[in-house]
Amino acid sequence: MNNFQYKNPTKILFGKNQIENLTNEIPKNAKVLLLYGGGSIKTNGIYDQVKKGLSTFDVVEFGGIPANPEYAVLVEALKVIKEEKITFLLAVGGGSVIDGTKFLSAAALYKGEEPWNILKNSERTLEGMPFGTVLTLPATGSEMNSGAVITRRETKEKLVMGGPGLFPVFSILDPEVVKSIPQRQLANGLADAFTHVLEQYMTYSVDAKLQDRFAESILQTLVEVAPTLLKDPTNYNAAANFMWSCTMALNGLIQQGVPSDWAIHMMGHELTALFGIDHARTLAIITESHYTYNLESKKEKLAQYAERVWNITEGTPEEKALAGIKKTTAFFHSLGIKTTLSEYTEDYKGTAQIISKRFTDRGWLGMGERQNVTPSDVEKIVEMSY
Ligand code: NZQ
Ligand code: ZN
Repeated sequence: MNNFQYKNPTKILFGKNQIENLTNEIPKNAKVLLLYGGGSIKTNGIYDQVKKGLSTFDVVEFGGIPANPEYAVLVEALKVIKEEKITFLLAVGGGSVIDGTKFLSAAALYKGEEPWNILKNSERTLEGMPFGTVLTLPATGSEMNSGAVITRRETKEKLVMGGPGLFPVFSILDPEVVKSIPQRQLANGLADAFTHVLEQYMTYSVDAKLQDRFAESILQTLVEVAPTLLKDPTNYNAAANFMWSCTMALNGLIQQGVPSDWAIHMMGHELTALFGIDHARTLAIITESHYTYNLESKKEKLAQYAERVWNITEGTPEEKALAGIKKTTAFFHSLGIKTTLSEYTEDYKGTAQIISKRFTDRGWLGMGERQNVTPSDVEKIVEMSY
């Protein structure tokens, strides 16, 4: 097992009616900016619950943060923060609203010239404006981690940022919010969380037995609840298990002391930036190719995954590994998610070269757990995903 230091300061309030507790979690004299997305919270009752919890506070609102939070929109919210002298941010939404809020948390205290530089120059945020979240869509784990992904349509870029200053102060996780989520987003949430675990697990063994079993148990739970959840999102227990699995998949716990990959995400972000494909679906497009291409270096973990998560007990390690990859693709299909790029766009030719060149230009010359996935490998992997 590798050395690690682990601190996660986010307080979680999990369960029914937890939104009522908002009142107790926000500093008493705070001036609050309530941030949300395209308006789903207005039709599913979450907005009313939040407003009730905020009734004793001075609150300004900013709605309209789109999926794949857009820099130009966030710059408008930043103006509101400055003009209204906001002291606390409250994100009510999925990963996009929460990530947008993390960007604002960093930008509000940023000393540099253009806040885009935080992303462009990968500047870590050590201190941000404090913020809390009310999660409406389990998927990203953003509610309990310190990372964010921001899009700039103007330049077709989607870049990551983060740092210890960007953990939410608190996050409210009420599984009852799940019942209004459309099938497409439920499937996205399952696939995204599943891939988060894979990115931190499908590497090479460092004999971290507990981390491996944490990871496998999250994968198994997602596989187990998926059919129930898709059939009946009002099933509270399925929703609760789904929600906590998504949070645990990317709150840092399973990543401690083990190598991690994240190349699937980095290639996936480019597919969203270029074609606007939903985040989780870009991962489903890349996963099979990435694992097949890197079979040699990931074989041991792939075979362990096949055995422990999918009960594949027959065959050589290589046969098991390949069967595990196929099971993963079949799982995405069972969620109604297509797994090749050409099923999402007719304009796919040349994508592999574009992405490979972007990585070269940015100096991203070695990805993956061994930092040896080069832009030329990326080109081949993306091409295999057509
Ligand atoms: O905009 P509204 O009206 O809120 O509707 C949203 C949006 O259209 C809707 N929705 C959310 N909760 C709902 C609901 N509809 C009905 N009922 C509810 N309770 O769902 C749509 C998608 O929301 P979005 O927030 O975009 O989805 P998700 O949570 O999947 O977030 C995706 C974003 O997070 C980033 C992705 O790249 C992408 O930009 N990620 C963030 C990560 C992180 N911070 O750690 C890690 C991930 O790997 C990921 O990259
Ligand atoms: Zn993801």
